[in-house]
This record gives sequence, structure tokens and C-alpha cells, in this order.
Amino acid sequence: MIHCGRLQRDRNMRNKPNATTSAIEIRTATDHDLESLAEAHAPGISAAQIKRRLEESSNGFRTMLVAVKEGRAVGSVSIGGGRFQRKNSLRLFALDVDPEFRRNGIGTMLINAVEAIAFNRDLNEVNLEVETDNKDATRLYRRLGYRICGNPVMDRWTLLQDNGSSKTIEVPVFVMVKRLG
Ligand SMILES: CC(C)(COP(=O)(O)OP(=O)(O)OC[C@H]1O[C@@H](n2cnc3c(N)ncnc32)[C@H](O)[C@@H]1OP(=O)(O)O)[C@@H](O)C(=O)NCCC(=O)NCCS
Repeated sequence: MIHCGRLQRDRNMRNKPNATTSAIEIRTATDHDLESLAEAHAPGISAAQIKRRLEESSNGFRTMLVAVKEGRAVGSVSIGGGRFQRKNSLRLFALDVDPEFRRNGIGTMLINAVEAIAFNRDLNEVNLEVETDNKDATRLYRRLGYRICGNPVMDRWTLLQDNGSSKTIEVPVFVMVKRLG
């Protein structure tokens, strides 16, 4: 179950921190991040979906990291197994940065933080899935040393919606892997 797609957003930008003027902290997400994460990732990712990721993180099933700027979460990434889990590897998924804050190095910081966790756990690699038509994310991963592993595969995951329903997303993805030094 992953999210690695590009999502369109159209939301209220009021009360947001300035995109370039303050430092970014990367830390484990807490329940208090729900509101700003929901705002950062709306409307493509529902608050219900983020709440579930936070619950999975607080109960230890997975880990969610957030990039925080001026007290607000402006990006996030999750770590944890799934269909494409590899041996001796840490799986990164659901990397997403608020569109207003992209191209400032925040995505790179989140990926670096995942790699540091993998390294500290003595794992050999980090793996992820990326939609085959997600050129921007694929270019970023390549630049950071990730390589496509094999042919595209179909991925299927469930997107929770705030009205209580859910939607099944089925997309072709590349598995990408980075060997840690
Ligand atoms: C993919 C994504 C997470 C990248 O986040 P980001 O914060 O923009 O990532 P970065 O800023 O670290 O890098 C993006 C680009 O900006 C460049 N950049 C970073 N800091 C910069 C700066 N200060 N000035 C100019 N460019 C900069 C990077 O070199 C990188 O260039 P590249 O695309 O040629 O590799 C973001 O675009 C996103 O949320 N997309 C939608 C969700 C998605 O597709 N997620 C991936 C799922 S697999």
C-alpha cells in the first residue's frame, strides 16, 4: 500500500510560513502534526489518510517523519514494509512536500533522513516505488543515487477519503533502490 503519485492541489495558502526564510527540522511525526499535514497535502491526500499514517506511526507499525518549518509540517515521508519490501532494505513511501515549499531541498532532506535511519539499522539499501509517469520524483531519486530495478509492476493501494469511503488506486510503478555505502 503506497502513495507515490503526483497530486493536484488547490488550497488556502494563508498563515503559511515563508518558503525560504527559516530552518527546517526533520523529526518523527506526532498527532499534533495532523492539522498542518492535512493542509500541506490537501486535497490529494485526505485528513483521514494522514490520520491513519500517524496512527500507524504512533503504534510502531510504521514510522512517519515530518519536515517542520516555523512549527508547521510542510512535508512528510513514511518508512515501513509493504508488497515490495526487500531483504535488508528500508522501504520509503508517501514522500510528499507542500507544493508551496518544493524545490527548496526539503524532499532531499526527508530522503536523507530515511537513509540515515537505514544506515543506523545496518541495512544495505533503501527501496521505494515511484509511478512510471512521475518524472520529477524519478529525476530526484536518480540524482540521489537511486536506480530502477527491473520492469514496471502494478501497484494497488487504498486511499481513504474524509467522507468515510475509500478508493482503490492501481498504477504501474518502478521499484527504485539505493545501495548504502
Ligand atoms: C517529489 C517531491 C517530494 C520533491 O520534493 P522537493 O522538496 O521539491 O525536493 P527537492 O527540493 O529536494 O528537490 C527537487 C528539485 O529541486 C532542486 N532544488 C533543491 N533545492 C533547490 C534550491 N534551493 N533552488 C533550486 N532548486 C533546488 C533539486 O536539485 C531537485 O532538482 P531535480 O528535480 O533536478 O533533481 C515533490 O515534488 C512532491 O511532493 N511531489 C508530489 C508527490 C510525489 O510525487 N512524491 C513522490 C512519490 S514517489
